[in-house]
Amino acid sequence: MALRLNSLCVKDPKDPKTTKPHNLPIYATSSFEFDSIEEGMEIFRDPSKGHIYARFNNPTVDAVAHKIAQIEAYGLSEVEAPWGIMTSSGLSAISTLIFSELEHGDQILTQGNLYGGTTELLLKVINKSGIETILTNLKDEQAIKQVLKDHPRIKMIYFETPSNPALDCIDLEFISRIGKERKLCTVVDNTFCTPILQQPLQYGIDYVIHSTTKYINGHGNSISGIIIGRDDQTKHKVWSTMKLLGTNCNPWDAWLTSNGIKTLSLRMAQHNSNGLALSQYLDQHPMVKKVTYLGLPSHPDHELARKQMKGYGGMMCFEVVGGYQGGVGFMNAIKIGTLAPTMGDVDTLILHPASMSHLNVDRDIRIANGITDGLIRVSVGIEDIEDLKEGFDRALRDTGLHN
Ligand SMILES: Cc1ncc(COP(=O)(O)O)c(C=O)c1O
Repeated sequence: MALRLNSLCVKDPKDPKTTKPHNLPIYATSSFEFDSIEEGMEIFRDPSKGHIYARFNNPTVDAVAHKIAQIEAYGLSEVEAPWGIMTSSGLSAISTLIFSELEHGDQILTQGNLYGGTTELLLKVINKSGIETILTNLKDEQAIKQVLKDHPRIKMIYFETPSNPALDCIDLEFISRIGKERKLCTVVDNTFCTPILQQPLQYGIDYVIHSTTKYINGHGNSISGIIIGRDDQTKHKVWSTMKLLGTNCNPWDAWLTSNGIKTLSLRMAQHNSNGLALSQYLDQHPMVKKVTYLGLPSHPDHELARKQMKGYGGMMCFEVVGGYQGGVGFMNAIKIGTLAPTMGDVDTLILHPASMSHLNVDRDIRIANGITDGLIRVSVGIEDIEDLKEGFDRALRDTGLHN
């Protein structure tokens, strides 16, 4: 039937050609049409058979989520059916998973040195739904056993390894074992490592989450997260919660993430190599008091990192001489790194917590958590290492301070 002008304007063109796109297309559509009512009924009955509405699922987002889950479980025959659900951010991956697994009255056991946003989410938002958070040192086996004895309502152990910014490692094998013994759900935020450097599912951990905003994208141009699980039983529960909370990822950010993943393993190899070389260089520098990097034997968790990670990554910290003034002087002098409150991008990013992320935190509390006045956090990029060494050296000398 030939359409009139106004009808022509509103109808989308159909592509009659069969040529397949080489790159994943971005499905910019909020809903999907059915060929017949029978097809619609079948998909409504079993949404895995097709697409309905983009808050429920979207072909671009689903393809990228599946790809990340495959990478997370790569080579792990014990993971039966790895699945991934992408979310609108790393934080929404965490809240979606918690609301999928826990209910009013349940408790979460975690560490005090999580990413600050996660701690705030747990203590200021999740707590309002009657899900309480208990903090303990997850490196202390006795302390964990005691807390679990004292709090029988703990249903989940949630942690990050390595942690931010001290790069403390938590033993994945131990936490997984204790979780299984006590029938607790175990969740790891694997953002710092990506599956290229660490695969928590290998140890029996139930869920892995990522802020895909960081290394997985790698180019700092999207905000998204992912929840990864190991079998179909858990998938439906998490998907139902995601769809009702509306924490779905949008296809554009999923597509940008997918583009970044193409070079993930190459980038991580270069982050490892530059992270180690810059740490070794700064460790010898006269204007640097201390370097914290998991690849240095001086790091207290060097051995544990060696056991459970396949590389030490690109995250490091160092303490510049001159305290707060030294830190601020360095930040103003550095040219090779960008002053930006994120991490995991291809270029080097630098943060001075005392004057940036922790500016409003009481100094005593900040120092008690290892965030000293002159501490600089570096997300070491994939630039030429000689440029990094030269650039850091120049900035350290330009602080105007003397050792
Ligand atoms: C370790 C870690 N987890 C989670 C998040 C939250 O991710 P997003 O900003 O994508 O919500 C961040 C953010 O910096 C992070 O560093």
